[in-house]
This record gives sequence, structure tokens and C-alpha cells, in this order.
Amino acid sequence: MVTEEQVRESLNEVLVPGVKRSLAMLNLVRQVAVSDGKVSITLASSALGEAAQDWLRHKAKEVVGRLSDADSVQVEFVEVKPAELNQINSIIAVMSGKGGVGKSLVASLTAMALRRQGYEVGILDADITGPSIPKMLGINERPGGSNTGIMPVLSRSGIEVMSFNLLLHQEEDAVIWRGPLISRAITQFWEEVVWGRLDYLIVDLPPGTADAPLTVMQTLPVSGVIIVSTPQDLTNMIVKKAVSMAKKMEKPILGVIENMSYLYVPEIDKKIELFGKGKGKEMAQAASAPLLGELPIDPELARLCDEGNIERYSSDAFSSMAQALTRALSLPTTEKAGG
Ligand SMILES: Nc1ncnc2c1ncn2[C@@H]1O[C@H](COP(=O)(O)OP(=O)(O)OP(=O)(O)O)[C@@H](O)[C@H]1O
Ligand SMILES: [Mg+2]
Repeated sequence: MVTEEQVRESLNEVLVPGVKRSLAMLNLVRQVAVSDGKVSITLASSALGEAAQDWLRHKAKEVVGRLSDADSVQVEFVEVKPAELNQINSIIAVMSGKGGVGKSLVASLTAMALRRQGYEVGILDADITGPSIPKMLGINERPGGSNTGIMPVLSRSGIEVMSFNLLLHQEEDAVIWRGPLISRAITQFWEEVVWGRLDYLIVDLPPGTADAPLTVMQTLPVSGVIIVSTPQDLTNMIVKKAVSMAKKMEKPILGVIENMSYLYVPEIDKKIELFGKGKGKEMAQAASAPLLGELPIDPELARLCDEGNIERYSSDAFSSMAQALTRALSLPTTEKAGG
């Protein structure tokens, strides 16, 4: 006699067409009932066109039919809003006081570090007017979907990604939008994308501490913030800005990552601190948060970013960052930022 558990287990192997994620991972299995040898399965139709639904019905009947008689398997679809399907444990926003310091890079590295530890991870690129995540990850596929939702695109290492760049016809299309439109786009990335079940969703915020990042933080239930700084920054000002923003929104600061801390020259085995002594520790202290890493200027990293191969990156500095991140995340930050 087939059990509900067996049915759910076999549905795990069914991949949603075009997404490379299973029904279970996308949380599309709504109900499974077994009675008198009859199996009835209810799936969410969110972001699935008719062809995809037909294919899934056929596939579900096939795999579950191996457990019992295929004729006794019924599959139906119900419409569910993506926001109701999504189960995301923790949302981490990456922020900095100014542009071009390596936020997108740190957002990608954070996602990679968690992914390498086996977590289910997504990146929401909230930089609508200057999206750079897909480029670093080498993604140029268009997201699938229907009029009931959008499916994220999967990176090579299995990170779900949604970015405005993926919706543009030409990567270079300039997006000149104003506040309200931007926040609507971000709301849609949150409410209409089928993220499914994720341990972590990393949000790459637009630069600065002005309206756009504020809106993002108000729209999404962010659980913590990572602040990116560089040694060129005027310590106090940048950290004060970021801390005051996190405080305004009552979000804990998980930690500070200093980017472009130094340049390592292997030929002379020397670290050169181009912008003077790193201020990472000072920054972290000012934010009452741990220093999660000091990333060097690494030509290899720059090259991998340009090639869309950032997921191949590994270095000692990145490993230490990953370790510090794990520690910061496993110790729930109870203290409110700046409090
Ligand atoms: N530590 C590093 N080593 C080598 N290259 C780096 C490093 N940090 C950043 N870069 C390069 O600098 C560029 C800018 O980084 P990134 O896009 O992450 O900045 P950002 O803060 O997100 O910028 P924006 O404010 O425009 O969103 C990237 O193309 C990346 O290749
Ligand atoms: Mg960026």
C-alpha cells in the first residue's frame, strides 16, 4: 500500500521544466492524499504555463505510477501566489555607504560561501538601475514564468538568481527609472518570484543609504545586514551612515567586510596596503559587529568577475570570510544595531 510519504519522496525527483529545481525545492507540492489506493496530488501552478503544467502532470503520474497503478493517480493544479509558496529562512542585505566598493562582489561571495556549505541560496539583485550580479555569475538566460509568477534562474553552482538585467532585452539597455517604479520592481521580485524553499536569500542593495536601499529594506523582511567598506572610506562617516540606516529599520548588523584591504604581491611575498592601514577592525567596532573579512585586491578575482566565473573563486581570504560568516550566522544577533 503506497503511503503519502512515498508519494512525496518520488515527487522530489521531478524537475520543473526550464528551472532545474524540483517540485519540492520550489515548494510546489501543495497536497498529497492517499485513500483506497487512489493517490491525489495537488500542485501549485504558480509561474507555470500550460505546457509546463501538462508535462508535470504527466511526469508526476509516471513517477508515482511506479509505486501504484498510474491510472489511480490524479494530479490537479491550484493557483497560489508565489509569496505564499515561498519559505525563506533568512534574508541578508548587503549594503555600503557608497558605490563601487564591491557590494555585488560581496553579495556573490556570501551566497557562494553558504552554497558551498550545502545551503539553498538565492540572490535578489535589488540594484535595478545598475544590476551586476548576472554578469559576475555568467548568467544570461531569461527567467521563465507565466502570468502567475516568475521563476528565478539557476547559477552554475545552484544559486537562484533574479535580476532586472535578466529581463532586459539587451544587457546594455539603460534603465532610467524613478523611485516608485524601482520599488515596484523590487516588490515584484519579492512577491512574484517563485523562490521556493531557501535557507538564505542575499539581497544586493543599490549603492548609498538614500531612498532606494531604504525602500528595499522596508519592502523585504530583512533579518540582518552586512556592511561593505574599503580602506579609502572616511571611517566615521560611512559607518555612521550605515549604522543609522540599520537602526532606523531595526535591523541587526551581522558584520563588516573590508574589501580591497591590500594587494598581495607573490614575487616578494608582501602585502601592500595601498590605501594605508586597513580600518576594518575600527569599522566593525563602530558598527558593534564582527569583522567578517578583509578581502585583498585580487587580479584573479577581477578576471573571474569579468568572465562570469566568480563561482570558481577560492582563496585564503575568502575561506576566512566564509568561516566568520558561519559563526556570525549561527550566533543569532539579538542586539539591535547601534543599540
Ligand atoms: N577585491 C577585489 N579584487 C579585484 N577586483 C575587485 C575587488 N572588489 C571589486 N572588484 C572589481 O570591482 C568592480 C566593482 O565591484 P562591485 O560591482 O562589486 O561594486 P559595487 O559596490 O556593487 O558597485 P555599485 O555601487 O555600482 O553597485 C567589479 O567589477 C569587480 O570586478
Ligand atoms: Mg553593485
